[in-house]
Amino acid sequence: MATQKRMMRVLAGETLSPPPIWMMRQAGRYLPEYRATRTKAGSFLDLCYNPELATEVTLQPIRRFGFDAAILFSDILVVPHALGRDLRFEEGRGPLMTPISGKEIGRLTGDQVVARLGPVMEAVSRIRGELADETTLLGFCGAPWTVATYMIAGHGTPDQAPARLFAYREPQAFAALLDLLADVSADYLAAQLRAGADAVQIFDSWAGVLDDASFAAFCVKPVARLVKRLRAAVPDARIIGFPRGAGLRYRAYRAATGVDALALDWSVPFDLAAELQGEGAIQGNLDPMRLVAGGKALAEGIDAILERLAGGPLVFNLGHGVTPQTPVEHVAEMVRRVREFSR
Ligand code: CP3
Repeated sequence: MATQKRMMRVLAGETLSPPPIWMMRQAGRYLPEYRATRTKAGSFLDLCYNPELATEVTLQPIRRFGFDAAILFSDILVVPHALGRDLRFEEGRGPLMTPISGKEIGRLTGDQVVARLGPVMEAVSRIRGELADETTLLGFCGAPWTVATYMIAGHGTPDQAPARLFAYREPQAFAALLDLLADVSADYLAAQLRAGADAVQIFDSWAGVLDDASFAAFCVKPVARLVKRLRAAVPDARIIGFPRGAGLRYRAYRAATGVDALALDWSVPFDLAAELQGEGAIQGNLDPMRLVAGGKALAEGIDAILERLAGGPLVFNLGHGVTPQTPVEHVAEMVRRVREFSR
């Protein structure tokens, strides 16, 4: 029998009223209990690799808001870390890595990645053990392009110019890096699903900075490779793709990669979102700043999404991650308003 989890039913194409709801980055600094656990853990990476504390912070937003899905607490950059690249997170500066060279790419090997990420899989199975049956557990990874941008620049940048330049100057090394990341990420997601995740999301946060040819080569092609390899290992894997900023290319992205559902950023027009819903589930797409503002801006943003998109398969979410300055009461208000909706 098919699963009864509300979120899984929508990912399979059903329309539910009210729609299931969760929030990207729902475990994080806007929650006082997260900040307390994070201090206890020491560093952000210590928290990611501590199965007990990672389980605790994954469950915190579920206890508070009763979301339909929990997302594993980790980071997309644990994959390059498991490939042997150095990684640290500095207060207020985000991730820092040593920029990789073309020569170093040639020496990377993926054999140890899943074994080194054992603590993550241990967290997944602990979380599944503690979650209610009706709550979906999401695993995740970064898409090859987005992970590669941090490996090449060594830090976040506004438009990923260093990675774009590297890709044009050293096309062979760059293609090899994307292939390797696609393969290890597929194996990593398969391990998360085997450990107890119900579905997975692929975060391609920097998909929006590429021209047409590069979008096809650096986003679509490696994600298609990842999805194919993942489905070879776990045939019924449910996969959400999030090519943030893909705009008109969202449709081609689902068709060419084979992801089940599309997570939409808040710039996607409702007309396009409704068309995309004709081909499968969508997730999104409230502007996180409406959630910070609260009041009328929040109510209007929520209502517009429900009016335009709740008639088809929709997972209510933000168009990107929740930000640290978000008042906790606004999140509770959003959940209440979405749950009151009926068609
Ligand atoms: O959604 C969740 O609650 C699960 C956990 C999660 C984190 N990062 C925790 C985190 C997920 C799914 C991610 C994904 C991630 N990480 C992405 C893709 C999604 C996106 O937001 O675009 C990216 C690009 C990263 C890399 C990363 N990690 C950056 C750029 C930063 C710094 C920015 C920031 O918010 O501080 C991080 C740090 C990070 N990852 C934090 C959290 C809770 C904050 C660190 C802290 O607690 O000190």
